[in-house]
Amino acid sequence: MRWFGFSSNGRAWILFSTVIYRIWMFINMAGARVCIFGAILAVFFCCSILRVGAQVTAASEASALQAIRGRLNDPLNHLNWTEGDPCISNWRGVLCFNAILEDGYLHVQELQLLNMNLSGSLDPQLGQLSHLIILGLMWNSISGSIPKEIGNIKSLKLLLLCGNQLSGSLPDELGYLPNLDRIQIDQNHISGSLPNSFAYLNKTKHIHMNNNSISGQIPPELSRLPELVHLLLDNNNLSGYLPLELSTMPNLHILQLDNNHFDSEIPASYGNMLKLLKLSLRNCSLHGAVPDLSRIPGLGYLDLSWNLLTGAIPSNKLSANITTIDLSNNNLNGSIPTNFSALPFLQRLSLENNSLSGSVPSTIWQNVNGTRRLILDFQNNFFSNISDVLNPPANVTIRLRGNPVCTNANQNIVQFCGSQIGWDDKPGVSKIVCPDTACPTDFFFEYVPESPVPCFCAAPLRVGYRLKSPGLSDFLPYKEPFEVYLTSGLRLDLYQLSIDSFIWEVGPRLTMYLKLFPLFNDQSGSISSEFNLSEIMRIRGLFTTWTIPHSDVFGPYELLNFTLLGPYANKVPLQPTNTGLSKGAVAGIVLGVVAGAVIISTIVSILIMRRLTIKHRAVSRKRILSKIPIKIDGVKDFTFGDMALATNNFCNSTQVGQGGYGKVYKGILDDDTIVAIKRAQEGSLQGQKEFFTEIELLSRLHHRNLVSLLGYCDEEGDQMLVYEFMPNGTLRDHLSAKSKVPLSFDMRLRIALGSSKGILYLHTEADPPIFHRDIKASNILLDSKFTAKVADFGLSRLAPVLDDDGVNPGYVSTVVKGTPGYLDPEYFLTNNLTDKSDVYSLGIVFLELLTGMHPISHGKNIAREVNMAYRSGMMFSVIDNRMGPYPSESVEKFMALALRCCREETDSRPSMAEVVRELENIWRMTQEADMAVSESITDPINISMFPSASTTTNSYVSSSDLLSSVDPTIMPR
Ligand SMILES: *[C@@H]1O[C@H](CO)[C@@H](O)[C@H](O)[C@H]1NC(C)=O
Ligand SMILES: *[C@@H]1O[C@H](CO)[C@@H](O)[C@H](O)[C@H]1NC(C)=O
Ligand SMILES: *[C@@H]1O[C@H](CO)[C@@H](O)[C@H](O)[C@H]1NC(C)=O
Repeated sequence: MRWFGFSSNGRAWILFSTVIYRIWMFINMAGARVCIFGAILAVFFCCSILRVGAQVTAASEASALQAIRGRLNDPLNHLNWTEGDPCISNWRGVLCFNAILEDGYLHVQELQLLNMNLSGSLDPQLGQLSHLIILGLMWNSISGSIPKEIGNIKSLKLLLLCGNQLSGSLPDELGYLPNLDRIQIDQNHISGSLPNSFAYLNKTKHIHMNNNSISGQIPPELSRLPELVHLLLDNNNLSGYLPLELSTMPNLHILQLDNNHFDSEIPASYGNMLKLLKLSLRNCSLHGAVPDLSRIPGLGYLDLSWNLLTGAIPSNKLSANITTIDLSNNNLNGSIPTNFSALPFLQRLSLENNSLSGSVPSTIWQNVNGTRRLILDFQNNFFSNISDVLNPPANVTIRLRGNPVCTNANQNIVQFCGSQIGWDDKPGVSKIVCPDTACPTDFFFEYVPESPVPCFCAAPLRVGYRLKSPGLSDFLPYKEPFEVYLTSGLRLDLYQLSIDSFIWEVGPRLTMYLKLFPLFNDQSGSISSEFNLSEIMRIRGLFTTWTIPHSDVFGPYELLNFTLLGPYANKVPLQPTNTGLSKGAVAGIVLGVVAGAVIISTIVSILIMRRLTIKHRAVSRKRILSKIPIKIDGVKDFTFGDMALATNNFCNSTQVGQGGYGKVYKGILDDDTIVAIKRAQEGSLQGQKEFFTEIELLSRLHHRNLVSLLGYCDEEGDQMLVYEFMPNGTLRDHLSAKSKVPLSFDMRLRIALGSSKGILYLHTEADPPIFHRDIKASNILLDSKFTAKVADFGLSRLAPVLDDDGVNPGYVSTVVKGTPGYLDPEYFLTNNLTDKSDVYSLGIVFLELLTGMHPISHGKNIAREVNMAYRSGMMFSVIDNRMGPYPSESVEKFMALALRCCREETDSRPSMAEVVRELENIWRMTQEADMAVSESITDPINISMFPSASTTTNSYVSSSDLLSSVDPTIMPR
C-alpha cells in the first residue's frame, strides 16, 4: 500500500471512495447534478465562514518538520517521516490537534523524540511550530546550539532538551515564552551566562540546567519568578555571589547549586525562604557562617558541605522533617548543638572534617526505631567524649575516627573508631513460589510480586526513572511511601508497581528501574495479562508530560526510558485526534460540520479515485526508472520470472522454512545452482532505497562462516534475497530429539568455533560493523560438510559508528528485536544494544550445543538451569548424552565459557575475540585428547577422561531438586 502514499487505513478510504463514486455516477445519470452542485456550493460557503479547512497539517509546520528532519541524523531509522502528511500519516513522535474553530488545519502539539539515538542539530525552523506545547528531545546526541527561534513558540509549556550535546549559550528569547512551565536543559554543554530575560518566565515552575558549563553570575532578577518551585543549577561554572534576592521567592522548594564557584557568603536571609524543602550548596567556595535555617518549617535536606564555612553551628532547632544534614568538610568550630537531638526523620548527620569539639550527645540517636537507619559521621574533628554508648542501637552507624576520643578509647568507644561502612542498599528479591509452567519465563512475562491473587502472570512495562534531587539519604524507609506516591500519581493499584532495582548516583540522585504490571482482571479468563494500548499511552503520557504531581520528599523526577518490549514491542503509539476542540463549540456549528463532512468526503473520494489512477502510473514509472542505475558487484539481479521458475511458482513443496522476514524456498536456477530464496512477506517489505542499501552492505560481506548472498529480486512489489543453499539445514534441527544423526562433541565444538568466527567478522571486519541481534540455533546453518554459517544478519542493525569526537558510544539504543530466550537481559532492561548482546545470545547457543536443551522449555531458562547444575558440581548431569564420549576437560572448559557469555552483567562477559581465542584453545586441547585416546584406547587412565554415565549418575540422584528441574529427555542414562 505504501506505494500509493496511504497508510493502512487508506484501504478503508478506497473502499468508501468506490461506493461514493458509484453513487455519484448514479446521481449524474439521474440528472440531479445541478442540485448537488448547489448543495456543495452552499457547504463550501458555510465552510469558508467556519474556516473548516482541509484536514491536513498546516503547511508551515509540515515544512518545518521536514527541515528539522533534514538536520537530524537518525541512524536507527526511528523517524518514519518520509511519506504523507505529518499529522495524518503517523509520523513518529508527532502529536497533533485539530484547530477546528481556528483555521481548520491540524497543528503539531507535541514533538516527543525520547531516547532515539538522534544526532545532528536543531533547525531554526523549529520556531515555525507555532502551536507546540511540548518539545521533548531528551536523551539523544543532538549537538549545536539551541535555536533562538524556539522563543517564538508562545504556546510552549514544556521544553525538554536534557541529555544531549547542545552547546553555545542560552538564547535570550527563551525568556519570552509566556506559557513555559518547565525548562529542562540539564546534561548538555551549554556555556555562557543565564540570560536576565529568564526573569520574565512568569509561569515557569521548574528550571533544570544542571550539568552544563553555564558561567557568570546568577541574575538577581530571577527572584522575580513568581511560580518557580525547583531551581537546579548544580554542576556548572557559575561564579559571583549568591543573590540575596532569591530569598524573596514565594514558592521556591528546591535550590540546588552544588559544584559551582561562588565567592560569597550564604545570605542570612535564606533563612526566610519559608517554602524551602531542600538547600544544597555543596562545594561552592562559600565562606562565612552557616545561616540560621530554623524558621523554615519543612526543610528536609540541607547540604552545605565542602565549602569554607566558619564559626559555630547555629543552635536553633531545625525542622522536624529534616532527613539529611551535611556540614562536612568546612572549618566549623564549637560543639554540636543540643538541638540536633531526637530529630524524628534524620537519616544522616555528616559533620566530618571540621574543627568541632566537646562531647557527642547520645540524644541525637534517641528514638531511632522501625526501619529508620541513621549515619552519624563525626570523623576528623576534636571531639573528646561521647556520652552513653553502652547500648548503641543496631540501626545507628557512628564514625569517630580521627578524634581525640579515639586515643586511649575504652572498649565501648573503640568500636566507632575504625572505618565503618554505611548501608548496603540491595533490595531484597521477593521469591514467589509458583508452578514453573504457568508463566513463560522469556523475560517478557513474570509473576507479579505483590499480586492480589497468587501466581498472576503478566508482562510489565519497564521504566527507567531518576529522582534528580531527592530529599532523603536512605531510600528503604521511603520505599513504601514512594510506591504509594507513584501509583496514586499514575492511577494504578499499589501492586501494579514493583521497584526492580534502585541505585544512588553522584549528585546524589536516585536511579530506579520500575516495572508496571497490568491490572488483574478475573473476567479475562486467562492466567497471563498485558496492558492494552490505551493504558500504555495513558501511562506513558503521564510520565512524559510531567502530569504526575511532584512530591515534597522525592523531588523532581526524570524519565530515562520507557521501553516497549516483548508483547508491547510492535504497538505503535496512535495519534490523538481532535483534542483541540474548544468547549465553546456551538451545536449548530457541529451539525454544519457533520453535514459538510459528508459532502466533502464525497469530493475527496472522487479526487482520490482520480489520484489513485494517476499515482499508480507514476509509481510504476518511477520503479522502472530507478532500477536501471543500480548494479552491485557480485550480486545478481534476478527477475520475478527467474524466481518463479526456480521454485516451481513458489510451490508449497519447495518451501523449506519460515522466518520473521517471510518464507524461505529452495530453488534451482537455470544453471542448476541450488539456492535458498527468502521472499519478504507483507510487512517486511522495505523502501527501495533501504532494500538496496541492505543488499549493498550484504554484498560486501564475505566469510567462510557467513551464508553468502548471491542475488536479489525487486519487482512487482516483491522483494527477495537469494542465498547459497545449506543442505544440512539449521543447527536447531540437529540438536532436536528427532535428529537422526546426533552431532558428536567435536562437531559441536567446530560449529561453535565457526559461528563465533563469523560473528567476530561481523563485529570487527564489516564496515560499518554489524551487530547480529538475532543469533539463535535456527539462524546457524550447516553446509554439506557441517561447516557452520551464520544466517539472517541482513536484518541486523548497524553497530554504532564513531561520533564526531571519535568516541564510540559503545551501544545502540533501539527497539528490542530478537528471540525470547536468547535476549541479553541487560539489553532489554536498558534497551542498549552492544556487541556483548551478541555474546550473550551466542552463549545460549553454546549451552544448547552442550545440553541439547531449548533456551526455554517447560518454563525454564537454560542459562539458569545449567548455571545451577554447574555451581552445584553436577554439570555432567545436563550434558547431552547423545554426543557420545567426550573429553570431560574440554566439555568443562566449553561450559565455563558458555556460562561466562551468559552472565547478566555486560562487563563480565568475554569479548567476541576472547570467545574465539578460548574456543581455539579448547579445540586444540580436544584434538590432542582425541589423539591420545586413539593411541591408547585401552589405557584405563585415559578412559577415565570420559565421565562414565554409571559413576556420575549416582551423584545426581541425591539432588532431587535438580533432577526434577531438568528436562528428562536429556538426562544421562
Ligand atoms: C554532573 O556532573 C558531575 C560533576 O561533573 C558528575 O559527577 C555527575 O555524574 C553529573 N551528573 C549527571 C547526572 O550527569
Ligand atoms: C513534614 O512532612 C510531612 C510528611 O512528609 C508532611 O505532611 C508535612 O506537611 C511536613 N511538614 C512541613 C512543615 O512541611
Ligand atoms: C576529609 O578531608 C580530606 C582532605 O581534604 C579528604 O581527602 C577526605 O576525603 C575528607 N574526609 C571525609 C570523610 O570527607
